[in-house]
Amino acid sequence: MSPSRKSAKKAKPDSEFERAESAAQFIFSKTDLRPQIALVLGSGLGAFADEFENATKIPYAEIPHFPRSTAIGHAGQLVLGVVGDVAVAGMQGRVHLYEGYSAKEVIFPIRVFARMGVKAVILTNAAGGIKREFVQGQLVVLKDHINLQGVSPLSGPNDERFGQRFPDMTVAYDRRFRELTVGEGNRNRIGLYEGVYAALPGPSYETPAEIRYLRTIGADLVGMSTVPEVIAARHSGIRVLGISCVTNAAAGILDQPLDHKEVLETAERVKSQFIALLKIVIPRIAAELGG
Ligand code: HPA
Repeated sequence: MSPSRKSAKKAKPDSEFERAESAAQFIFSKTDLRPQIALVLGSGLGAFADEFENATKIPYAEIPHFPRSTAIGHAGQLVLGVVGDVAVAGMQGRVHLYEGYSAKEVIFPIRVFARMGVKAVILTNAAGGIKREFVQGQLVVLKDHINLQGVSPLSGPNDERFGQRFPDMTVAYDRRFRELTVGEGNRNRIGLYEGVYAALPGPSYETPAEIRYLRTIGADLVGMSTVPEVIAARHSGIRVLGISCVTNAAAGILDQPLDHKEVLETAERVKSQFIALLKIVIPRIAAELGG
């Protein structure tokens, strides 16, 4: 072992802030783009990043301290590129608590975005539909969430450089982003609902009794992601747009078992509409940030 490795081993481990900073600097060393908007592309939705112009693709495995996704349907790379005239960073796949990652690991990419100067994140996911009006393939703009994952990514000592100890969550999902997304959906004949997303740890799907419970407490959708990222983004003042694709009716609504294959098939079917919506919304969000 070289002397420098030896002394590095003795040194105090880097804090989350320093790790995020070094990941951000690594990403900046690969491209001249400096995006203000980042996207997290959930199950089966990563294809959008393949359409970015002027793209630089960075596998998660190369980015210092970045977690690697193991779920099927998640490519595991960060793509920086241009959509319309807007520089964006897109995550092709995320990591989840059910993969065994801690909540802090799950939100590390959001910490990195914060250090990169990102001002808005668009978080997408596949979700089960609890509200009966939601058809398979329905796109739903998130208006609020219920955290039933049993953990917060902000547990533990607070680093004020990211944000304050007790972040406000009254309007976690940016009102203006929601309005403009629903407006563009209407204008472009992409029927959008708004809904409340309940996050569970997974990986088993819910029982019918759990779905009845979730409906009673005000949830319209259920999934296994997104909420930790929203909490981390709001902690750092990053504005959030969340969009779910209802890939299946939640457990017990139809008389049939749930299957991850169905989730991916529905996401695949709706992909082009989802991408069309994102292409319309990104320049509007960029204008919103600039104005
Ligand atoms: N439950 C939880 N997560 C999901 C579902 C579901 O029904 N569909 C897609 N992700």
